[in-house]
Amino acid sequence: MKTNLKNKIIIITGSNSGLGLESAKKFASLGNTVILACRNIEYGNKAKRIVGENSLFIPLDVSSSESIDKFARKFGHKFSKLDILINNAGVMLHPPKKTEDGTEITFATNYLGYFFLSLKLIPKLICSPNSRIINVSSIASYRTEKINWDYFDPIKKISSLKEKREIYEHTNLFRLMFSIELQERLIKKNIPVKSIACHPGVAKSKLGRHFFLAKLIYALPVMSSTREGVKSIIYSSTNSNLSGGEFVGLNTKNQHKGDPIIVDPNPLAEIKTLRQKLWKMTVEKYGIDL
Ligand SMILES: NC(=O)c1ccc[n+]([C@@H]2O[C@H](COP(=O)([O-])OP(=O)(O)OC[C@H]3O[C@@H](n4cnc5c(N)ncnc54)[C@H](OP(=O)(O)O)[C@@H]3O)[C@@H](O)[C@H]2O)c1
Repeated sequence: MKTNLKNKIIIITGSNSGLGLESAKKFASLGNTVILACRNIEYGNKAKRIVGENSLFIPLDVSSSESIDKFARKFGHKFSKLDILINNAGVMLHPPKKTEDGTEITFATNYLGYFFLSLKLIPKLICSPNSRIINVSSIASYRTEKINWDYFDPIKKISSLKEKREIYEHTNLFRLMFSIELQERLIKKNIPVKSIACHPGVAKSKLGRHFFLAKLIYALPVMSSTREGVKSIIYSSTNSNLSGGEFVGLNTKNQHKGDPIIVDPNPLAEIKTLRQKLWKMTVEKYGIDL
């Protein structure tokens, strides 16, 4: 895919593997500075070696508010502006676990991390014209037909396969709802930053690592390559016709593979009262707002 993106400062979370690493390679090869925001020091350094001189590794565990604070401070000391934040880090079918903040791991990583990091970095995004936040979601966001609010910061242990699948689906819907709601709030506050959600279809990666069957599926030769998978991320990051608030998916019926195009989200994400409820619950619980 051709793009003129150059000399930009781009943060990509979870960029030591899969779609994040592939996006990092692409953006660095075009002459941008890519911040590899990865949680594991060894993997982060390895990613830096792979991506090359246009990259910098700054440790970030998106499931930890302390780590997000530290990352934002370190980034702030080194850079006066940010052009693109790509919220990409994610987990699927994770074994039961609470983070150091006491939050369920999939909820913390897939949703809360997007929310916290975006809000922390808005002061830097404001310093750059045409800046944007890209929120990677999934076609799994379509599967939820009615929101079960028990999946918002669940107290209950997420242990059955059904619960693990449902929390993955819910957190992908929450990411999307957050992305749309953020755009509306940015406009309301006259903040010239765009918020765009996208999904990659289904592409080879390590996403299935926590469940043997998913691990096999995500390595199948019929799956799209990660190069194919990042098309929607690159489109969302570079397309000047996007005004913010869109969901970029793929131009095929099941959206597993294809070329990027703006698609309709799960109708639940279009219900403002639900988005407002999600935002309010997040702010009330974690005390950070735009
Ligand atoms: N591949 C697909 O078909 C597909 C489809 C729909 C949506 N997605 C979404 O795409 C995103 C990228 O997934 P992928 O397919 O590229 O999977 P992947 O190969 O497993 O990559 C996930 C990345 O997220 C990182 N990560 C996980 N928890 C983190 C944390 N707490 N802090 C920082 N980084 C963390 C991982 O780091 P470690 O290596 O240290 O664990 C890894 O770098 C995910 O959000 C996923 O939901 C993927």
